[in-house]
Amino acid sequence: MCDDRDVPLDRGAAPNLLAVSDLHVAFPENREIVANLRPESAADWLLVAGDVGELIADIEWALRTLRERFATVVWAPGNHELWTHRADPVRLRGEQRYLHLVEMCRRLGVITPEDPYPVWEGPGGPVTIAPLFLLYDYTFRPPGAATKAAGLARAYETGVVCSDESMLHPDPYPNRESWCWARVEATERRLAQLDSGIRTILMNHFPLVREPTRVLRYPEFAQWCGTERTADWHVRFNAAAMVYGHLHIPRTTWHDGVPFQEVSLGYPREWQARRDPPVLPQRILPVGCGQG
Ligand SMILES: [Fe+2]
Ligand SMILES: [Fe+2]
Repeated sequence: MCDDRDVPLDRGAAPNLLAVSDLHVAFPENREIVANLRPESAADWLLVAGDVGELIADIEWALRTLRERFATVVWAPGNHELWTHRADPVRLRGEQRYLHLVEMCRRLGVITPEDPYPVWEGPGGPVTIAPLFLLYDYTFRPPGAATKAAGLARAYETGVVCSDESMLHPDPYPNRESWCWARVEATERRLAQLDSGIRTILMNHFPLVREPTRVLRYPEFAQWCGTERTADWHVRFNAAAMVYGHLHIPRTTWHDGVPFQEVSLGYPREWQARRDPPVLPQRILPVGCGQG
C-alpha cells in the first residue's frame, strides 16, 4: 500500500480498516512516505496512532494530506505532538496544546479522542473505533525500582531519559502522571457506557499492557510507555484489536486472545536498517491470513 503512486485506486474494492503511527514527518524521508501513502479502496479508513510530528504545521500538513485520500481518518496524540518544541511558533503547553490539536483536527475533518466514537461497518465490522489519549504514569518501572523517583533515578544513571521530561509539559496538571490518571478515569467512564454487544478497536499511542515493552533495548524507557491502570481494558472493553505505536517495533503480539498491533514507521535510521521496506499502512480489518 506504500508508494503505489502508479496503481489506480480500485473504487469497487472492499474497504479496509488500516492503521499507522509514528510517521515523524520532520524527517524528509518520512515525509516522502506520507506524500506517497495511498488507500487501496476509496472507502478505506485510516487510524493514526500518534507521533505524526512535533510542529503544529507539520502535523497539520500530514493529517490534511491523509484526510484528502482516506474516507475517514481517526487520530490519537503521541507524546511528540504534545511537545512544546523550541522550533514551533505555537508555544502552547500541555492540555491547551492538546485541545489546539483537537480543534485543528475538527477543521480538517479528522476524528479525535474528544469526538463520538465512529463505528466501522465494513468487512470484519461492526466495531466501535475508540481513539484514546491516556499518556503514561511511570508504573512500567525497571526491575527493583519501587517508586517513580527510583525508576527515574535509574534512567538518569544509565542516560536513557525520554525527551518528554523537558518538552512535554503537563499544564495545568502538576505532573504527567496526574494528567494520565485524569485521562484514564474519564476514558474508562466513557468506554463503560458502550454497547457491550459490539466489539471495539482500542487505539492509543502507548500499549495498554506492559508486555510489549519487554523487548525494548533500554528497559528504563518503559516508564514512558504506558500505565498499569489499563492492563485489563482489552478484555473489559471487548477489543477485537488494540492498535498502538511509540515503541518503533512494528509487530503483533497476543494478549488474552486479542491482537496488539504496533503499526509504527519510526525514524529513518530504524526502518532503513531493516532488511525489508516498511509496510504502511497496516491492515486491522478485515483480518488476513495468519491472524485469528
Ligand atoms: Fe515515535
Ligand atoms: Fe512516541
